[in-house]
Formats: sequence, C-alpha cells, structure tokens
Amino acid sequence: MRYLLISALIISLTACSSSEQVTTTPASTAEYAVAMPDKFAARVALDVMQDGGNAVDAAIAAQFVLAVTYPEAGNIGGGGFMTIYMDSSADFLDYREMAPADASRDMYLDDNGDVHPTDSLFGAKASGIPGTVAGMWAAHQKYGKLPWQRLVQPAITYASEGFEVPEKLAGRVSRYIKRIEKRGLKTNFANYFGEAATAGVLFKQPELAATLSRIRDNGPAGFYEGETADHIVSYMQANGGLISHEDLTRYHAQWRTPINFDWRGYQVVTAPPPSSGGIAVAQWLGMVDNVTRTNILPAHNSAPYLHLVSEAGKRVFADRAEYLGDPDFFAVPQPQLIAPDYIAKRAREINLTAISATPQIKPGLHESEDTTHFSIVDQWGNAVANTTTINLSFGAGVVAAGAGFLLNDEMDDFSAKPGVPNFFGAIGGEANAIEPYKRMLSSMTPTIVLEDGQVKLVTGSPGGTTIISSVTLSILNTLLYDLSAEEAVNLPRFHHQLWPEDQIRVHEGFDPATLNTLQDMGYNIKESNFGDLHLIMQQNGKLSAASEARGRGKAVVQSVK
Ligand code: DON
Repeated sequence: MRYLLISALIISLTACSSSEQVTTTPASTAEYAVAMPDKFAARVALDVMQDGGNAVDAAIAAQFVLAVTYPEAGNIGGGGFMTIYMDSSADFLDYREMAPADASRDMYLDDNGDVHPTDSLFGAKASGIPGTVAGMWAAHQKYGKLPWQRLVQPAITYASEGFEVPEKLAGRVSRYIKRIEKRGLKTNFANYFGEAATAGVLFKQPELAATLSRIRDNGPAGFYEGETADHIVSYMQANGGLISHEDLTRYHAQWRTPINFDWRGYQVVTAPPPSSGGIAVAQWLGMVDNVTRTNILPAHNSAPYLHLVSEAGKRVFADRAEYLGDPDFFAVPQPQLIAPDYIAKRAREINLTAISATPQIKPGLHESEDTTHFSIVDQWGNAVANTTTINLSFGAGVVAAGAGFLLNDEMDDFSAKPGVPNFFGAIGGEANAIEPYKRMLSSMTPTIVLEDGQVKLVTGSPGGTTIISSVTLSILNTLLYDLSAEEAVNLPRFHHQLWPEDQIRVHEGFDPATLNTLQDMGYNIKESNFGDLHLIMQQNGKLSAASEARGRGKAVVQSVK
C-alpha cells in the first residue's frame, strides 16, 4: 500500500519542475545573474540586486516570493539550506526543520510495528518545526545590506494583490486536489488553493499576506511568537499535530562549516550534515575522477558512462544509509568519508564491465513531489545556492489555518523504521532515527564551485535523493565534459541509488542503443522525470545561466545599469 501510494506520488512529484534561458552581456560591465524556479522570484531577485542588494539579499527576497508564487515547494512552513560565498569566504546556513519535542522513534509505527502509509506524509503529524523564517533572518543579520522590510515586501505584494497563476502551477494544484479526494484524506488544501487550479486567474492569499506582514514588521517573532504561532499551535492541537509554542520558540537556524573539497583543480563548497548531499557529491565526483584518470573518459551519456556513475552511486548510497544523520545527535564520520584514500579505495572496487551484486555493497568504512532551488551571483562575485523544501509537493497538504501557509511533511525524511524505505526509497537506521529536536537527514545539496577563489559554478536541484545525482551530473557535464549551462541542465540525466537493485532511473531522451546495452548488462531501466536544475556558470569573466526546460524557471544574466 505504501509502495502504491509512493509510486503514485512519484508521478506527481516528478512533474515538478519551463523555462526561459540564458542571456549574456558584454564582459566589460559588471554582471549579476539568477537561475530561479519561476519568473516572479527572478524579477524580484534582479530588482533587489539592481537596487544595490547583494546575493544574500536577493536570496531572502526570492525565498519569500516563492512562498507565495511557488506553493508546491516555496515556503515559510518548511526549511532548507543556503550555501554562501561572500567576500571570498564560504559559509553554510542550516535552516532545516527539527522534530517537535513530542516526536519519538516509533511514532509512525502501527500496533504490528509496520510503518503507517501516510502519517509521515500528509496532515499535521507529518510536520517538523519550520525553519525558513529563522533562516532568512539569520542570513540577513550576518550578510544583509538592504533593509529586511524591503526584502519581505515584494512577497506581501504578490500575496495581497495576487499573481497570475501559471499553467504548470494550475495543473499541479488540480491534480493534487484530485489525489487528496481520491484517498479520502481530510485536508483544508482545496479551501485555500482551489482557485489556483485555474491558469490565468489572479490568485490572492490574504491570510498569507497578513502573516508575511507580521514577519516584515517583527522579524522571527512575527512567526515563532504571537498571532502566527497561535494559528500554528491551534491547528496542530485540533488536527493531531505535535508542534507546541515551546517548540516554536526553541527553533534556531544553525551556521555550519560547509564541506569543502578539491576536485580536478576546482574547490567545491557544498552542504554538510544534516544534508547527505555534500559528502555524497564529494564521494561521487571523487570516484569518477579516480576511475577516469586511469581509464579513457567514456563518451557523455554512453552506456559505459552510465554504468560507471551508477556503480559509484551504489557506494555513495550504502554509506548514506549507515553513517549520515544530524551531526548534533550522531557522530558522523565526515573526515573519513571524504578522505581521498578512502574514495580511491571505493573506486578500485568498481568493475567497469559488470554490475556488482547489490547486497554485497556495504557501507565502506569498516573492513569486512517537492523542493526547489535557486542560484544567484551578484555584481561583486558573491554567490548563493539555496535549496528549500516542504518535502513533497505542497508538503503535508495542510494549511496552518488563519496563517495561510502550507506546512511541511519533512518528518518522512527520518528513518521511521530501520531498513524500511522512506518516500524517496532511502533507507537508514540509528543515525537518522527520530528524536526530539533532531533534524531529519536531507539530500538537498546547494553547491558552489570555485576556481582560484572565483565563483565558477552555482548549482542545485529538487528531487529527493535524485538531487545528489542532478548536482553531481551538473558538475560533470560542465567541468568534465565542457557542456554549456543550458546543455548541462537540459540533457537527459540518470540516477542510481543502490536500491531498488540494479535499477537506473533515466530521463526521456537517451539513445535507445545505450539503454539496450545497459539492459543487456543486467540493469533494469526505468524512465522517469526528476529534478529541476538552476545553474549559473562563469567562463572568462562572463556569466551564463540556465534553468531546466522541464520546469517553469527563469534564468537571466543582467549588467549593472
Ligand atoms: O530534504 C530532502 O532530501 C527532501 N525533503 C527533499 C524533497 C524534494 O526534493 C522533493 N522534490 N522534488
């Protein structure tokens, strides 16, 4: 039942993600760029930078706009990660949700010890304590140039005056409403979003406008205290949720040291735990580099290439399941996992012509539908990569009544029971078990690549566990295969995560002969859409930016006027 539900949801989720592409300008003028999930956020972020704001200011304004115009993933009821490169120094902000104090290890198990099919995915009980408002405030306190009020206001204007509903959003809202109805799930989603199921209507969200106005005027207290907090807690109490007033006041965003590693002369700055993404990308890129240094580089998207990357991915996901969780609760062996010798040893296990038996791939240290991402570069060469989520499309499918925003279903990212896959098919154990105030393991991987201290690439994507593949492949596409930003986001990608055994998920568009070769090797090929890359690249002092055509994003490079 859980699997049926999960496959139905994957179909909707993978629809997440249109796009308009790259513009370039003469190299002599200072440029700034955005690659955003929608045109509203792109416009607002560009305006902020035209007004003299930096990349972090633009990110804060975009995050709040997406909470209005991109409700399937943009949020104030969820969380995320922000990778920052500012004044030549790298930083990382963790604004991931935390489990409420009343959460417990077995909270999603029924009397037989089985994982409940929907409790961690739909409704108030699926929500972790939201982190976004605390996160944006922390980012502004440390790096903001323009006033907070200036950055929150555009979102309020879109919420109170409305925005024209894009066709892709309308389609997703109406499919979601049908799905909820079909399952007999009780949610207030249609009361709030039913109108947005029609493309072209002017959609206004007055409750959300009032909540955002409290945040504009009072900062985090406008969310974690007072009227907004009262709405959240009343909704929780009336609907079986756990988040209390104390949980809201105890929430804090956390500054962390980013994962930083060398790869082929570049410096990659990416997400540390509680993301699994940075360690995973370091291992994945590292194994591919080890193998391709001593062997011929396989042709891009050929069968040998998909096989090599899949074999590396198996080892990445075996380690993810065993060693990764919230570092404030579990001792993550981070230095060992990204040590070059360890990665070289794992790379030596790869057989370039045959599939290794899945059950034999163990964690290696011991011998024996929705998220969204945006990328920004400002006129001073600072960068932000920000991935934010309420987990599945439209989160838990419930609105904090009175406050007008969707709540996350991030609790599903914990391991509800050892060995039982979550929505994204990820398994885990002790490291990612539920505990009060713990942050659930994530795959979000906002990443900045530097070359000689200058921003070379800013990249990231939604897609659950496929985020790690999308980010890894965007780096390989641009920096190993020399593809343009547009090619890098739009050429077909693939994903392998150890389990299901020998399964490679592929985008539409691969050469059928390549897929036949892989099938002959023993792979099971499953076509599915996933991810929505937003990438900015710098080459010879010029920026190019691209948002994946499968989504409704917009990428623009602009010169300072
Ligand atoms: O943090 C994570 O890894 C997941 N909650 C992300 C969910 C996601 O990317 C859904 N998007 N398509």
